[in-house]
Amino acid sequence: MFGRIMPVSHPATAQTRADVLWWRTAVIYQIYIRSFADGDGDGIGDLAGIRSRLPYLRDLGADAIWITPFYPSPMADGGYDVADYRDIEPLFGTLADADAMIADAHGLGLRVIIDIVPNHSSDQHRWFQAALAAGPGSPERERYVFRPGRGEHGELAPTDWESAFGGPAWTRLPDGEWYLHLFAPEQPDFNWENPEVVTEFEDILRFWLDRGVDGFRIDVANSLKKDQSFPDVGSEAEAVLVPHEGPHHPFWDRDEVHEVYRGWRSVSDTFGADRTFVAEAWVDSPDRLARYTRADELHTAFNFAFVRAPWDAAELRATIDKCLAAAAVVGAPATWVLSNHDVTRHATRYARLDSTGGGVTDEARVGPNTPLDPALGLRRARAATLLMLALPGSAYVYQGEELGLPEVVDLPEDVLADPIWERSEHRVRGRDGCRVPIPWTTDGPSLGFGSGDPWLPQPASFAGLSVQAEQGVAGSTLELYRSALAHRRALTVAQTVDWLPSPEGSLAFRRLTADGSSVVCVVACTDAAVPLPAYDEVLVASTALEHGPDGETRLPGEAAVWLRLR
Ligand code: BGC
Repeated sequence: MFGRIMPVSHPATAQTRADVLWWRTAVIYQIYIRSFADGDGDGIGDLAGIRSRLPYLRDLGADAIWITPFYPSPMADGGYDVADYRDIEPLFGTLADADAMIADAHGLGLRVIIDIVPNHSSDQHRWFQAALAAGPGSPERERYVFRPGRGEHGELAPTDWESAFGGPAWTRLPDGEWYLHLFAPEQPDFNWENPEVVTEFEDILRFWLDRGVDGFRIDVANSLKKDQSFPDVGSEAEAVLVPHEGPHHPFWDRDEVHEVYRGWRSVSDTFGADRTFVAEAWVDSPDRLARYTRADELHTAFNFAFVRAPWDAAELRATIDKCLAAAAVVGAPATWVLSNHDVTRHATRYARLDSTGGGVTDEARVGPNTPLDPALGLRRARAATLLMLALPGSAYVYQGEELGLPEVVDLPEDVLADPIWERSEHRVRGRDGCRVPIPWTTDGPSLGFGSGDPWLPQPASFAGLSVQAEQGVAGSTLELYRSALAHRRALTVAQTVDWLPSPEGSLAFRRLTADGSSVVCVVACTDAAVPLPAYDEVLVASTALEHGPDGETRLPGEAAVWLRLR
């Protein structure tokens, strides 16, 4: 469909399991378990579904998978409210299914990263239930953050802190005490000053490392430690939990949090250098983020500055430079991401006519009334993906982005399940639009996701974006990803980018490859075509190249290409 794109001669093979530093360059595919594949027909994705689709991920060219929480959970926040860290939610399967999934993945050369949620548990966790029963002043309450209220009768919350999902971050119990929940009331925060909490989580890590997992994605890694003087945040702008940098914020990115991760690193190191962590830490500055990846702490941390960057050549380049420089100071690889289960999908983010970047906050999200150009969004998303995959470091691909799926911005209100919808009193729709079940086939019940009605409805347009519709079709987004992932394996030699001169509104950089040739990535971030340097081969292009009046080859606007130069 897009003209001459060099065919990939063989399917990508995953990296060998002998490569202990695999996490420095890996492409990790994020599975949002509820929406990936439903093996038992109840409309909710599960471990059986994942197992059945592992060969697809191997053929796509992923090195590893990250699975969002699969633990027993009342699902107040899609599984990020964990009731038991050592078991599997019955909707998703059993521990035996998890073991079998890990074994299958390893058999296909895929590593497995699981999600660990240390900031809070579910209110149904046995520790929280024991804390409720034991009452004020008990050791059971010391595992969570309980405080007396302010005001004459303790009727005012202990601080002015607000929940990330809207409303106060404290809930009062009938016995008068208040407990802290930076997220939903069903997600009470652990007290990380208590050594019992520290020991418990190190033991949970060992439980899963013993079962063979290759790593952990750490949920809200930057919020575990709270200022023990419990000050007010102060201004309203600060009280809304837009992540701020430490060390002065009462709970975001405090310096003390790093003690926790030095302990975790010593646990993972006893299992070998191939076990890894990736921090989810929404901190504003790449320098503060790099502190999480110092040599004795975590291996990697998501670069959300890249997610937040608008589609603008100068801003993207500045962000890339800052992220690479900060990571280099601590010797860590950079970790790139364009989409995940919390942000507006990038095909829709870049379809905004104002082309702003993404984030989890209300203003950054795309809603039903945002003016959009979906075709432009997809065109830019494909280019952005080639940009991301050409960068040194590791990269995360969120399920469905390889199909070019857009955010579903018009889900009916009565199906919205994200706690943000209720907590914001129906002002903010939340994150369900990026969590709609994956279309595998062009027809049939739930487009091949499973045999029953999916837990969120799929729009009719998903049929044409299904795996079946795109597989083997030259120029489809799926084939673009497969081709890019196969070629990327040759790029991972030099960990630097050499910027090349390019016209305003575009980017060009070179990576050296194992055979001594270079690959040049050119990205056009405006509608202006960009003349290309002399090259030997087009490896992969997000759209067909064009020829100028004098015969020169040009990259059309809003597109990207990888060229091999000998
Ligand atoms: C997860 C969210 C979740 C929140 C609370 C986030 O960082 O990615 O999906 O709602 O943590 O656990």
